[in-house]
Amino acid sequence: MLAASLLYLPGMVLDLLGLVTCRTMGESSTIKMVKSKSWTMVKHFEGLPKLEDFKLEEKELPPLKDGELLLESVFLSVDPYMRPYSKRIMKPGDVMIGSQVARVVESKNPAFEVGTYHVTNVGWTTHFISDGAGVHSLPKEWPENLPRSLAVGAAGMPGCTAYFGLLEICNPKEGEVVLVNCAAGAVGSLVGQIAKIKGCKVVGSAGSDDKVTYLKEIGFDEAFNYKTVSSLEEALKNASPEGYDCYFENVGGNYADVALQQMKQFGRISVCGAISMYNDSVPATGPYIQPYILFKQLRMEGFVVSRWIQRYPEAQKQLLQWIAEGKLKYHEHVTNGFENMPAGFIGMLTGENIGKAVIKV
Ligand SMILES: NC(=O)c1ccc[n+]([C@@H]2O[C@H](COP(=O)([O-])OP(=O)(O)OC[C@H]3O[C@@H](n4cnc5c(N)ncnc54)[C@H](OP(=O)(O)O)[C@@H]3O)[C@@H](O)[C@H]2O)c1
Repeated sequence: MLAASLLYLPGMVLDLLGLVTCRTMGESSTIKMVKSKSWTMVKHFEGLPKLEDFKLEEKELPPLKDGELLLESVFLSVDPYMRPYSKRIMKPGDVMIGSQVARVVESKNPAFEVGTYHVTNVGWTTHFISDGAGVHSLPKEWPENLPRSLAVGAAGMPGCTAYFGLLEICNPKEGEVVLVNCAAGAVGSLVGQIAKIKGCKVVGSAGSDDKVTYLKEIGFDEAFNYKTVSSLEEALKNASPEGYDCYFENVGGNYADVALQQMKQFGRISVCGAISMYNDSVPATGPYIQPYILFKQLRMEGFVVSRWIQRYPEAQKQLLQWIAEGKLKYHEHVTNGFENMPAGFIGMLTGENIGKAVIKV
């Protein structure tokens, strides 16, 4: 500790937390020179992201000014949107985009108490300074016994995606048949359970036998492994010979070409994602869908969940209530260590996760 302190300015002593205590005129005041680590994107991804596309960078944060607060990330989210949005809104060298559950460690802003937890959207970063803008408190109904990581999962953005994307766009009625793919993931697993709560028959597909077992455990009526079935068309027909009223689309590509043909008259399709196409370097072409939409009189609508941001509290309240009642089960795939965040992200894109993929710092 003494040796380390020699690296700093005279009068400064390095403490075990990496903070620096500054003594002035015999008095001791603490200037928190905290080191922040961030993952940046070295260059735009080609195909599936690789570990060497990311770089870990470190910088020292300045002392807080009045009105500011210092936060540390506790759980960080890795989500599929990071892949397509990296292309759309990032340039090489930028910190990876993303959200986190963060704890206030120091505050010079009376609106934020030290020790409180919030959801922020500042990217893949361990520590950061904020003026309070974009710092969202956990919902007031948050039960003490619930992991705070759910604020970026089942009771956060993915939960709201499942809630609004299914209920507002598919508008499923009791007795109808709902199809969802990526069904064992963060959004899909909730979509299927919400459809069950609404009295529907639910069919889900996922990429491993363990995931299929999980889907049955959480109440899906039918589930299959899309990677091992001999024919997707047959699997969908076997699961619901009469076809589908609602299709919650997370995958796109060939899957959608096959599923669209099995919609019932006046079916509704909520286009939430197209993960099978996010790593394409050349945009895929496929069968043209207009004849299916026309003759089955389908309604197909894409959405970005932020369109309902003003209504998030409504969804979060309902999701938390369903969780408390045991009607909505959640699962998390936790990668430990900020240093493993790129691996956690790539793992999620390749299907390692059941439920929400999160990084625990
Ligand atoms: N519109 C919005 O506002 C919004 C918001 C959130 C999420 N989304 C979308 O919702 C979808 C699911 O997101 P999530 O956060 O819940 O992720 P997730 O399902 O928890 O994780 C991604 C999953 O995608 C599956 N996958 C990867 N490559 C695939 C491929 N080529 N074909 C089929 N499945 C593939 C993998 O599961 P398998 O093992 O089953 O392959 C993987 O576990 C994504 O498309 C995402 O972009 C949209």
